[in-house]
Amino acid sequence: MDKFIIWNSSLKGEVEVSGSKNASLPIMAATLLTDEECRISGVPNLRDIHTMIKILEGLGKEIKFQDGTLIVKSKKSRSYTAPYPLVRTMRASFCVLGPLLAKRKKAKVSLPGGCVIGPRPVDLHIKGLRELGANIKIERGYCLAEAKSLIARHIFLGGEFGSSVLATANILMASTLAKGETIIESSACEPEIVDLASFLKKMGAEIIGEGTPLIRVRGKKSLGGAEFTVIPDRIEAGTFLAASLATYSPLTIKNTNPLHLTSVIEIAKKMGASVKVNSFSLFIKPPSYIKPVSITTLPYPGFPTDLQAQFMVPLSLAKGVSLVTEKVFPDRFMHVAELNRMGAKISRSGPYAIIEGVGSLYGAEVMASDLRASAALVIAGLAAQGKTEVLRIYHLDRGYFHLEEKLKKLGAKIKRER
Ligand code: EPZ
Repeated sequence: MDKFIIWNSSLKGEVEVSGSKNASLPIMAATLLTDEECRISGVPNLRDIHTMIKILEGLGKEIKFQDGTLIVKSKKSRSYTAPYPLVRTMRASFCVLGPLLAKRKKAKVSLPGGCVIGPRPVDLHIKGLRELGANIKIERGYCLAEAKSLIARHIFLGGEFGSSVLATANILMASTLAKGETIIESSACEPEIVDLASFLKKMGAEIIGEGTPLIRVRGKKSLGGAEFTVIPDRIEAGTFLAASLATYSPLTIKNTNPLHLTSVIEIAKKMGASVKVNSFSLFIKPPSYIKPVSITTLPYPGFPTDLQAQFMVPLSLAKGVSLVTEKVFPDRFMHVAELNRMGAKISRSGPYAIIEGVGSLYGAEVMASDLRASAALVIAGLAAQGKTEVLRIYHLDRGYFHLEEKLKKLGAKIKRER
């Protein structure tokens, strides 16, 4: 198991953000909707991407992945099963269900199971597919779906926590081959959904309203191959914003779309930073001291839950008391205990965390628990006095491409130990 050794660092210069993991994964699943060749560029070389490659290969795809470009071809194969060992390692694999069912009329996908950020239910995915006419059974941890043909419907996809990103992706993909016009109401508005819709339209799908809570899809008989480049990773960009604030380091963040980060830039400004944006990069100048704020995580365009852990680090150093309300994954606080071991003063009650600013954090041995919590611990290590060891950083390798190289280039004192 690898670990990071990190010392107190200030950062300087500019960093280039990689392509979006959460845009790439559903777009990779969408290649199941055609037997023609697809070329997808700007894909980050991450463990989760390789997991999805394995799942698609198991479903009869032949995939070459070089310099960020995936070339996806189809082999003769009628397999329709995404097996538990692979789906267990990455919940997003569940988004192969919709395209597989729509194209092959049959799909057997392992239920993803939970993870440390909370129970990861899939009731909305199943509800949406059933409304499109699928016959779905849950048996021995697998979701078995069959449908002679899918029929368009008006589907309400909102749950008790609002919209669902991957449920929207599953239903959007399935509806592209359904008979008639499907309406998806309370759909997720995330930029990754807009990117998926752009890819599907390049394949010949007819979609309007992506990026709004109401998407209309006119089903087609078949879809063709397409060439596409995925959007930059807004969560990686936001992670560097948090690192800049926590280490009081001005940073230029390149290859990012500031329009995908409006709520995050708003919070950074409230914390006292000045942020200058242009079309594909932004420059952040942190304040000499952080102002406390209240953050509530919400579906897009609200503050993203995937940046909640990272922003707790600068808030732990603010002059005053901050409140974080986690409305998407109310249990997503595994990082709190570890940050408190580094001297933070965070108390949690249900979906709320009260953060009392302290003078400084102190290096310690800490344990990564999930992808974004690990990023928070790395930021805390850069901000803390002394030496920090972040254990189990395989969590980090799932979602950040060359994070330590990028940080080292900015002057961070960080090294990976096998
Ligand atoms: C996507 O997960 C992202 N993953 C997550 O990023 C992200 O945290 C999440 O969206 C929210 O933005 C990918 O895109 C691969 P949801 P997803 O369905 O789609 C509830 C990361 O770090 N819900 O939008 O699985 C659910 O419990 C990962 O990159 C239901 O109730 O999340 C949650 O409370 C972590 N029923 C809320 O909706 C369902 O059927 C939002 O979850 C589905 C979800």
